[in-house]
Amino acid sequence: MNEQEKINAALKAVSFVRDGQTVGLGTGSTAYFAIQEIGKRVREGLQIRAIPTSEATRQLAEEWNIPMVNINEIQTIDVTIDGADEFNSRLQLIKGGGGALLREKIVASITGTQIIVADASKQVEKLGAFNVPVEVIPFAANAVARKLSALNGAATLRVKNGNTYITDQGNHILDVSFGLIGEPEILAKELDHITGVVEHGLFIDLADYVIVGKGEEVEILTKRI
Ligand code: A5P
Repeated sequence: MNEQEKINAALKAVSFVRDGQTVGLGTGSTAYFAIQEIGKRVREGLQIRAIPTSEATRQLAEEWNIPMVNINEIQTIDVTIDGADEFNSRLQLIKGGGGALLREKIVASITGTQIIVADASKQVEKLGAFNVPVEVIPFAANAVARKLSALNGAATLRVKNGNTYITDQGNHILDVSFGLIGEPEILAKELDHITGVVEHGLFIDLADYVIVGKGEEVEILTKRI
């Protein structure tokens, strides 16, 4: 994990943000640097309104006096800058290591330009070394874990500081090992159809750019059309 690579990627992403835009603010240690930079630019006069993807990000945005708007008062988001736990050359992602995947996916789903920022360690040939986070309603946790097992997924209920992890929406997370995933788009559809799953961390066709810090350089990967 290279902090300077995260910073370089985040700064590049923020250069895409323009006056007057509605901006989605991601969650995690890489998005953190983007939010900080947006905060600095707001202080210098940048005029935006922001949608945070988690309570942690809301708090950070408040600390930087970044104006925010209720997601239910807008139709679309111009640009969102968010992190990822893994990405491949097709810009398919695993997200949710930080637990914010549900709001992150909702925000991504109404975003015009979704920019993912990452250090080079996040780039993989095949997704799946990182467990896929699956957000479930607590009532369904065991039932979903059994369905996942039928898909060759080994699920572990996420625990934080000795307690079951609770998401911003009051749900639980199963971290699921599927091994390396041959066809993430097919697995994503299967996960979409399990009753009790609220959302999962496979982000398919949602990222427009991945900005990746590589040593001193920054590489911009674009969705192939
Ligand atoms: C948060 O729920 C995640 O989706 C993060 O975007 C992801 O875990 C990346 O976080 P880092 O930038 O801290 O690695």
